[in-house]
Amino acid sequence: MRAVVMTEPSDGPDRTEVRDVDEPNPDSGQLTVEVEHAGVNFIDVMARRGDPGYASSWPYVPGLEVAGTVRALGDDVTGFSVGQRVAAFTRGGGLAEVAVADSRLVVPLPERVDTASASAAPLMLATAYLLLTDAGRFRPGDAVLMYSAGGGVGSALAALVPVLGGGRLIGTVTRADKVDAVRQLGWDVVLPLEADMTDAIRAVAPDGVDLILDPTGTRMLDVDLDVAAPSGRIVLFGNAGGGTPDPLPPAGRLIGGNLAIGGFSMSSLTAAAPARAASALGTVLGLLAEGTVRLPITEVGSLDEVAATHQLLAEGRGTGKYVVSVQRTR
Ligand SMILES: NC(=O)c1ccc[n+]([C@@H]2O[C@H](COP(=O)([O-])OP(=O)(O)OC[C@H]3O[C@@H](n4cnc5c(N)ncnc54)[C@H](OP(=O)(O)O)[C@@H]3O)[C@@H](O)[C@H]2O)c1
Repeated sequence: MRAVVMTEPSDGPDRTEVRDVDEPNPDSGQLTVEVEHAGVNFIDVMARRGDPGYASSWPYVPGLEVAGTVRALGDDVTGFSVGQRVAAFTRGGGLAEVAVADSRLVVPLPERVDTASASAAPLMLATAYLLLTDAGRFRPGDAVLMYSAGGGVGSALAALVPVLGGGRLIGTVTRADKVDAVRQLGWDVVLPLEADMTDAIRAVAPDGVDLILDPTGTRMLDVDLDVAAPSGRIVLFGNAGGGTPDPLPPAGRLIGGNLAIGGFSMSSLTAAAPARAASALGTVLGLLAEGTVRLPITEVGSLDEVAATHQLLAEGRGTGKYVVSVQRTR
């Protein structure tokens, strides 16, 4: 079968190629999925550049979310049948014609949800849903700030907040030329990311920000603490710039500011509490099936175009969510 293979760490697309590799077989507790669509993510770029904890080994087949049909079942797997339409979290290996998944992280696809949208549900839509409802304890009317608003998670947040009761959405983007496009995703205010953001954020949220969703490691944490409203929640959920995060601030700053800092990692949740991750995936697939949530998705035509898409994401040139159409060649 064909798969996207990253041969060794690199800052560019030069070590990513499409290769013929052995098709995986499901072990006990697993099933394999004949992939129709797979999500393309910034986290693949973090694996590509060799950030610790992302690529399990080299060469590495990236890909953390897929949708398609069940191809084969491990010995003890029940509740699924060959040919059934599903969406799944994968632990790498999703950008391939066949992917293996832990059956606890596979969810049947409602009839009305197409595989392109479904392939964006595990890591993008379910992450945005849990960031808001679980880690972020979103309340209707909250002012919400997110860095990297123009990516997949950002576009999912903009779609979900109105469904959860509405709020004021303030996002940042790494490139000023993306401001208009990202406003069209549903963000009320879009600010280009600059060296000091405190004044710019205070100007648009004079009463402070209730929920801050921050995938930039600890780079923006001082700003987060400065602009957070009393009872504000700060959720750290990534390390987009790479490097080692700084220590957290002293307790006095949190106590004095009535602030909470939390963390969120979907991959850790899938390992530690797979039922919760699968439940969130089932919920967001239900929202897609009802038509309550609509996602703007850009479909990339084949696995051969994935390396260039990763580079687009690495350079911050993308807007919204990218998924790849995977057609089996033989
Ligand atoms: N913890 C989790 O479970 C989890 C799950 C999914 C994603 N994430 C994190 O959430 C972030 C966005 O992911 P995504 O899937 O939405 O991205 P995506 O759709 O792949 O798009 C890439 C986004 O990354 C942003 N970006 C690129 N280089 C950056 C940098 N050096 N500093 C800050 N932002 C940068 C760009 O933001 P602009 O729009 O600002 O240009 C762009 O929107 C990533 O950092 C990712 O690691 C975490």
